[in-house]
Amino acid sequence: MLQRAPKLGKNAKPLLIATLAIFTTSFVALTIYDPQLVKFHVIDRFKDLGPGSDPSGNGILDSLLRGSQIEASGNNTVTPFSPHDARNFIMTEKQCEASFPGLFVEIDRTVADRMSRKITLEELEAVNSTTYGYFRGIIYNQQLYVSKMVDPNFSRGFATLMAMHRAIVTSPEPLPNIEFTFNTADFIDEPAATWTYARRFDETLNWLMPDFGYWSWPEPKVGSYDEIRIKALMAEESMPWDKKIPKIVWRGATLKLPVRLALLDRTNEAEWADVKALDWGNPESKEHDLLSMSDHCHYRFVAHTEGHSYSGRLKYLQQCRSVVIAHELEWVQHYHSLLVSEGPNQNYVVCKRDFSDLEDVIKDLRANPKKAKRIADNSVKTFRDRYLTPAAEACYWRKFIKAWRSVSFEPKLLDEAGNFRGVPIESFILERRTDWAPY
Ligand SMILES: *[C@@H]1O[C@H](CO)[C@@H](O)[C@H](O)[C@H]1NC(C)=O
Ligand SMILES: *[C@@H]1O[C@H](CO)[C@@H](O)[C@H](O)[C@H]1NC(C)=O
Ligand SMILES: *[C@@H]1O[C@H](CO)[C@@H](O)[C@H](O)[C@H]1NC(C)=O
Repeated sequence: MLQRAPKLGKNAKPLLIATLAIFTTSFVALTIYDPQLVKFHVIDRFKDLGPGSDPSGNGILDSLLRGSQIEASGNNTVTPFSPHDARNFIMTEKQCEASFPGLFVEIDRTVADRMSRKITLEELEAVNSTTYGYFRGIIYNQQLYVSKMVDPNFSRGFATLMAMHRAIVTSPEPLPNIEFTFNTADFIDEPAATWTYARRFDETLNWLMPDFGYWSWPEPKVGSYDEIRIKALMAEESMPWDKKIPKIVWRGATLKLPVRLALLDRTNEAEWADVKALDWGNPESKEHDLLSMSDHCHYRFVAHTEGHSYSGRLKYLQQCRSVVIAHELEWVQHYHSLLVSEGPNQNYVVCKRDFSDLEDVIKDLRANPKKAKRIADNSVKTFRDRYLTPAAEACYWRKFIKAWRSVSFEPKLLDEAGNFRGVPIESFILERRTDWAPY
């Protein structure tokens, strides 16, 4: 069913869906009513694939799947990127490169780093698989499988898998088969050839994937990425730049982190700041002090602080036409190479890590409103309307998958007994586990 027929007739899609529905329904019915089939279905043993066959070799599988590998769509028209394409998930690699030329710096860095010492299965297996937030998976013939998950703690891992799944199934070009591990924790103790949301500047082993927020961050009700983008646009509409409050805003849990405590300390009672610590355990604090992400857009200056490591909030702040003011960062995310802190293309402002120069920075920006507006406009142009669009994220994932394969190995989908080594994402996302007794 993976075949992309480029010239499907208008009615072909509903017909296809109907056929699929009938097929699926009858299959489910059969599985339920025929105990023998259930048994067969639960314990797949492909013993009859042929004399001396080794199912874990990819040969048999590949020959079975050959007819269903997708073909490139052929639309390689390169047009200048416009917000019209913000949710265009079907760009080819060539279109992605033309639309987002600065997006792949981090990918190029890791590829260059591993070109001469490729990632092996042994190295992948040596990644610490007992830490919470660990996932292992396979992409095979444009299909995502999950083979291991360790205590996901939050929704993050599922968000990341859904984002990958979207980038895979919308790809207008074939993607290579890969095997990978990723970790959703704020940071991992031992840097490794695994995918993480951030790395320290001096750690070069980790591969940076877009964080979970590009799908959704439901726990604090921050919302899905598109929801946040729409709400930020609405906030801009109701309070354009001229009407914005000329203060710096920040809300968050301090978590006893020095950078956050420093920000509170430096802005204490300042007339130019609206900075408050949130106490998530205190209903009154939540009632009075909580600001939605889009409420932040009502301020001209928005503060960014790191958390236990990176803070995914930056991309939300960058949805506002406001000046992002951050302390010197110690953690890198996949798109951070696009941050510019000076010159005509400046798109954010950097303070000292202890915020000791924050007051001067705000005074300067207040005294130079044209400069402040230019920085905010540059931020919108670079981030909200280009590099932080869902289209850019899908492009990044596909490039990332290709890059990983270019310095790693061809995975096996089947084990020696002929069983799938992972659960297809369609089932995994429903069960949220890789193994369960039929029920
Ligand atoms: C080809 O791709 C470009 C860029 O993604 C898009 O704007 C255009 O509509 C596409 N053309 C066709 C015929 O699909
Ligand atoms: C893997 O991580 C866990 C938890 O972080 C740690 O306790 C353990 O020592 C690590 N294992 C190895 C082999 O480093
Ligand atoms: C994640 O789950 C493990 C096991 O339940 C727990 O020990 C750990 O503290 C959790 N971590 C976070 C950040 O909640």
